[in-house]
Amino acid sequence: MCGIVGYNGTRKAVPILIDSLKRLEYRGYDSAGIAIFNEGKVEVHKDEGKIASLEKTLPDIPGNVGIGHTRWATHGRPNKVNAHPHTSGNISVVHNGIIENYQQLREKLTRSGYQFSSETDTEALAHLVNHYYKNDLVDAVILALNDIKGSYAIAVLCGNQLVAARKDSPLVIGVGENENFIASDIPAILKYTRKMIFLDDMEIAYVAPDKISFFDTSKRPIEKTMKVIDWDMEAAEKSGYEHFMLKEIHEQPKALHETFAGRISELEGAIAFDGLKEEQVRDINRISIIACGTSYNAGLLGKYLFEQLAGIHADVEIASEFRYSHSSPGSLVIGISQSGETADTLAALREAKTFGGRSLAITNIMGSTITRDVDNSIYMRSGPEIGVAATKTFMSQLGVLYLLALYFGKGKGKVSSDRMKRMLVSLRQIPAQITRILGNKESIKKYADKYSSASDIFFIGRTLNYPIALEGALKLKEISYIHAEGYAAGELKHGPLALITKSTPVIAIATKGLTYDKMVNNIKEVKAREAPVIAIVDEKDSEIEKYVDAVIRVPATDDILSPMLSTVVVQLLSYYTAKARSCPIDQPRNLAKSVTVE
Ligand code: F6R
Repeated sequence: MCGIVGYNGTRKAVPILIDSLKRLEYRGYDSAGIAIFNEGKVEVHKDEGKIASLEKTLPDIPGNVGIGHTRWATHGRPNKVNAHPHTSGNISVVHNGIIENYQQLREKLTRSGYQFSSETDTEALAHLVNHYYKNDLVDAVILALNDIKGSYAIAVLCGNQLVAARKDSPLVIGVGENENFIASDIPAILKYTRKMIFLDDMEIAYVAPDKISFFDTSKRPIEKTMKVIDWDMEAAEKSGYEHFMLKEIHEQPKALHETFAGRISELEGAIAFDGLKEEQVRDINRISIIACGTSYNAGLLGKYLFEQLAGIHADVEIASEFRYSHSSPGSLVIGISQSGETADTLAALREAKTFGGRSLAITNIMGSTITRDVDNSIYMRSGPEIGVAATKTFMSQLGVLYLLALYFGKGKGKVSSDRMKRMLVSLRQIPAQITRILGNKESIKKYADKYSSASDIFFIGRTLNYPIALEGALKLKEISYIHAEGYAAGELKHGPLALITKSTPVIAIATKGLTYDKMVNNIKEVKAREAPVIAIVDEKDSEIEKYVDAVIRVPATDDILSPMLSTVVVQLLSYYTAKARSCPIDQPRNLAKSVTVE
């Protein structure tokens, strides 16, 4: 939920920490702070609000080692006192995660004479490390972590010594020349190095300028493997776009191209995934998909695809509900999470695994926690996504799910070689078709501008288009703050139709398919209540325009693939609506990109 960074090297630490923190602001942005070792003592600077406000208050500090934090409040209000780093004696700590037993620790430490100045759980950790510190920072951190229940990614500064540790919250160590870095996520430090070492749970790193040592919680040394990240820096910059979200919407053709690369051969009509074997498919009789938010919406489309293409029954479960549902999952459990760190999804997957089936993760982040919890992982390869609202990662999730459903369909004998070849040829055309839709964005903007003052907007669709209606509504509400509902169009008459009036714009996703005629009827139902209707239709559709106020056309493709194209339209509608309302699009209020608390 929060972002942490650390630097130990030969350059001034402050500009590097501030720059890296700005790249982590998507994880939280209600307060920020840094601690720098300078001229024999540690200086701490904190402020409420975004990194830019903190930056304005900073003096020139020459120190070469320090830690930093950008916060998304969990324990204690978002203010300067509760901002990290938290200090105790010579110890400064930044923390991402939740210390569940902090109340007990707080009482115990208070009895031992420590004074608390903030409402945070993290301050208890600072006092604990101080309490255990006897000239060896690694020892003190290990002893403190032994007392803690909960999740953490931490960086601890004591003099010019820097230590990092993690459990259930992400942390990566960047390896440079005579300088090393700590960050919650790769893009934060990609400008400085591509060489990364991913810390695993219960591992501790001692980070000096010329050496990094890794330990387990018994202080036994551990060997770690360094990975070279092939994302380039441009991928983590806005590159002339006004917002990351708009840039990421435009990156979808490239993201999909990467998702497909090396996995499909349309000539042979074949799909291959590293580590997945066709014989495993034969044993799958039911699939349970577990995810949250946008990833859930992708999972819902996945359910339809597994059922329609592979004839395998699939359930899709909201992760935070699945944990307590007591329902037994299918023989394959698929966890979908772009970050790979969503606490609800991780917890639900762990629960599902106790039933003994196989597990598979679809994620964008190499080495993320989810990949360690499952039998197989499929990487989405979207590149870094900085905007809080997921766009290109949703598209890549869909890309993976289409491939997976076709792969399972082939394995189950439900997709013929001919059908497979045709589908793969059509899939390959999707990136270029998305580019065509993007070329038409000004006309989509026109409708967004027109309806941007609405208080309520409905997105409706049936079967494969229903998940896209949900995703359109989720995108719109999170970035424009307009109340939006995504509905299965056939369900409107069972209640929500009561809300439809001439002031309730309806976005109807009505591309050709099994339920097209029924969808036309549903559009007539809302039109009869005088709702302004914008229909998203195939370019060849000549029927719907008779009944609606506006049509947005997408290129014609195989019926089953059109949700990928409609997705781009609902993303652009949401983006331009939020822009017309001057909303902070990349960092919507109360939200963070990676939700590492349950
Ligand atoms: C919405 C959004 C969230 C995430 C959700 C799950 O735009 O981004 O709804 O989809 O928090 O995140 P991941 O995919 O990282 O598990």
